[in-house]
Amino acid sequence: MNNADQVEYWNGPAGQKWVDQSDRLDAMLAPFADTVIAAAALKPGEAVMDIGCGAGALTLRAAAVVGAGQGALGVDVSAPLIALARARAAEADLPARFELADASAFTAPDPADIVISRFGVMFFDDPAAAFANIRHAVKPGGRLAFACWQALSLNDWALAPLQAAMPFLKEAPAPADPTAPGPFAFQDKDRVAGILSDAGWANVVIEPVEQAIILPGDDTESTAKFMMQLGPLSRLLAAQGIDEAQVEAALIALMQAHKSPEGRIAMKSACWQVSAGNA
Ligand SMILES: C[S@@+](CC[C@H](N)C(=O)[O-])C[C@H]1O[C@@H](n2cnc3c(N)ncnc32)[C@H](O)[C@@H]1O
Repeated sequence: MNNADQVEYWNGPAGQKWVDQSDRLDAMLAPFADTVIAAAALKPGEAVMDIGCGAGALTLRAAAVVGAGQGALGVDVSAPLIALARARAAEADLPARFELADASAFTAPDPADIVISRFGVMFFDDPAAAFANIRHAVKPGGRLAFACWQALSLNDWALAPLQAAMPFLKEAPAPADPTAPGPFAFQDKDRVAGILSDAGWANVVIEPVEQAIILPGDDTESTAKFMMQLGPLSRLLAAQGIDEAQVEAALIALMQAHKSPEGRIAMKSACWQVSAGNA
């Protein structure tokens, strides 16, 4: 297993965009950190490992709850995101540390009480092998709690910008393999349950979380630009070399249609909150 495509992707322009937009991304994804932290039921003194931690927002939230002791360890393949996470931990003076590593092959220095993740576990070439490796980093009786997206069709925040861009594509995108590594690879909850049980996790519970996402940006123009830089639309724009001015105009119209009287742009999202135990 090598996950080479993802290592390249998250260390290239996409990783840098996540660094540049990290504050806005964290604001947008904060409700999902709340969901994972609530499901994790962390206790002071526990050792936590955050998989695919990115710039470390969830790791830092966990470190603030468990406090000193072993604290929280974030693991990620992206060098620019790990560098930002380390700087954030130092600035916040929290017991969090970060490793640049592929979680599917990583050997943790000490076993964790719990592994958590916010949208960082859907990128493995061989998910069952990766989750088996992750389980070996957890104490007997330890826990797993992560959030992953449901299908693109249920996530308007990602689907609507794609649909708005469709008229300007040079060719229709090939139908996506719903199990291919990527943000929506864990959309099928039965598949996720199978992966986890194949990896030796027990007591798997998968619950839907449906809520509105507030898109970042002070105005429709900046929100449109943000949505073109990140997520599925940015991958398509880069792959097809589309006229970005036309797409931006279409997205501004989309954002205006979703703007509330208070000026917020909210769209539907759906994810799974997954929990399991290392029996
Ligand atoms: C959608 S981002 C989520 C980042 C972070 N959890 C958050 O919520 O802000 C997915 C992250 O998974 C990381 N990732 C992808 N494959 C990985 C792997 N095999 N091992 C560790 N991290 C990985 C990426 O580098 C990226 O930072």
